[in-house]
Amino acid sequence: MTKRFYITTPIYYVNAEPHIGHAYTTIVADVMSRFHRLMGYRTHFLTGTDDHGDKIAQAAAEAGTDPKSYADRISNLFRETWPKLNISNDDFIRTTDPRHIKTVQYILQKVYDQGDIYFSNYKGLYCVGCERFYTERELVDGKCPDHDKKPVEREEANYFFRMSQYQDWLISYIRENPDFIQPERYRNEVLSFLREPLEDLCISRPIQRLSWGIPLPFDDRYVTYVWFDALINYLSALGYPDGDLFREYWPVSRHLIAKDILKPHGIYWPTMIRALGLPPFRHLNVHGYWKTEEGKMSKSHGTVVRPLDLLPVYGLDAFRYFLLREMVFGLDAGFSEEALVQRLNADLANDLGNLFSRTLAMTAKYFQGKVPPFGSDPDENDRALLAQRDQTTVDFLEEVPRFAFHKALISIWALINAANKYIDQVGPWQLFKDPGKADRLRTVMRNLLEVNRLTAVFLTPFLPDTAEKMLHRLGISKAASDVRFEEDGRWGTLREGAPVDKGEALFPRVDSAQKQGAKRPTVPKKEEKTPDTVPIDTFRTLDLRVGVVKEAHNVPKSQKLLRLIVDIGEERQVVAGIAQWYKPADLVGKQVVLVANLQPAKLMGVESRGMVLAVQDGTALRLIAPAEPVAPGSRVS
Ligand code: MSP
Repeated sequence: MTKRFYITTPIYYVNAEPHIGHAYTTIVADVMSRFHRLMGYRTHFLTGTDDHGDKIAQAAAEAGTDPKSYADRISNLFRETWPKLNISNDDFIRTTDPRHIKTVQYILQKVYDQGDIYFSNYKGLYCVGCERFYTERELVDGKCPDHDKKPVEREEANYFFRMSQYQDWLISYIRENPDFIQPERYRNEVLSFLREPLEDLCISRPIQRLSWGIPLPFDDRYVTYVWFDALINYLSALGYPDGDLFREYWPVSRHLIAKDILKPHGIYWPTMIRALGLPPFRHLNVHGYWKTEEGKMSKSHGTVVRPLDLLPVYGLDAFRYFLLREMVFGLDAGFSEEALVQRLNADLANDLGNLFSRTLAMTAKYFQGKVPPFGSDPDENDRALLAQRDQTTVDFLEEVPRFAFHKALISIWALINAANKYIDQVGPWQLFKDPGKADRLRTVMRNLLEVNRLTAVFLTPFLPDTAEKMLHRLGISKAASDVRFEEDGRWGTLREGAPVDKGEALFPRVDSAQKQGAKRPTVPKKEEKTPDTVPIDTFRTLDLRVGVVKEAHNVPKSQKLLRLIVDIGEERQVVAGIAQWYKPADLVGKQVVLVANLQPAKLMGVESRGMVLAVQDGTALRLIAPAEPVAPGSRVS
């Protein structure tokens, strides 16, 4: 039997351009699809856009256009963004697609005919932003928790879906199927919603109020309410009620969402499916929210981070790596470019990039750039490396299916670091000098080449471009999407004598991206040697300011650190390791030079936003100051 996998993302509203939140969900779905393809599954990966609803009609009116043209434009932006992020979706559905409209109308008619949809008057509190009625209980201080606005009173005759009659079934289903909604915190959240009696779901809008929707097949004075329309995309894209795709993939369906749309997916959707007499989707996987330093991303506050702005500066795989490594699936995470730069330089350019380039450079030098055969039997160092290989394999196979991407990546990096350590311990350059050790050198270099190859295989779901590049340079001409774990996950499959290509660094450090005109801060690595010369532009990236020390304090429990408040035109708190040489009282009033654009850091729990410059004089340390006092905030150049 062929193993199958079906994953969906939410269909995104077309009232906003794609941002990193949308990118994250879609990249996660991509990683899962690629992982399952790697494992030999037949996969189907669906994404798309939600074109209907009040919000979109409003956004179109504000833009002075009709809803369809507006939806076409933004939907295309999504469609065009995904290939740039290497998203391997099999289908892209829109709620304005005729295939979708057909399925929605079929379902409405079926559920209506069986008596699960009825007509009634409804009076309630309606949030325009959410396009739904709220119960008093759901409001926070009388306001919609998502929009922080008071809902408006609204009375309307509408159609309702008898959701309440499926409440008991849903509670037992969730209880009996612990992996239905994951992680557990969201399963508990849904169960706690269900502790209160469920109301029936209003599924229509009168056409005079909203014409931008799908007409009800049994009453053309009404269109469907946004959720009843949107959720059905997961079935209409499979061709429900007919179609091979439906038969093949519905039994293994998995929806991926963020916590904002838990209720529609955890409650409305399973009850709708139940009313259709279908088995429920198999899994709902829920992740947290990306927040920027300013908090929630918001268009009006200009805090939306757009993936396409970041790619030219950092490259696609650095962006994918950061999102997947940084967020613990299920919890919120913070997005900052500084953190991205740090991960890029440390993990990608340094750890992975160095391992790859050292291995290839040594193969070029010691074996004329050809894969050597294994030589002598493994020794202790080899066994330690192979033990890490086995551990990483286990972690990769266990953690990815659980959406614990950060753990899988940590384990892949443990292998990379074990290989870097192995090089330092074994010292292949010494083996090379000794002709009696040629056999040992073959084993060492072959082990290293195999670790690099296996690392590329592990990286195919996460960083497909990098993985493919690595494989090509190791003499394997396979597309990332053709790699299969069963075959390629085995040890020792490199072809003896295959040519390897030393090539260029896999990841340029961000300093060099800067030279190409990007104005981003850099984070030099500690162990990095100072280059002989730097271009003037590199020097200019430093914002050096003269400041006056306003306050100085000891940092509790630290012998070395002082906390200073420095006036550089604005007050800055910095932590300096100067307690051995200066008493706090001696510093107040002194002028100092501060690196003002240094990435903030916490030292002994105290935030430091900058660094004071000092000079080492023998064992003493002296702060640097201008020869004559200058105005605080003056720039050093
Ligand atoms: N159209 C509905 C979904 C219908 S699905 C049948 C909708 N659209 S949306 O454009 O608002 O997309 C919401 C989804 O976008 C979230 O569930 C999540 O996948 C993604 N994200 C949007 N902002 C996000 C963050 N700040 N962080 C993480 N993901 C977020 O709701």
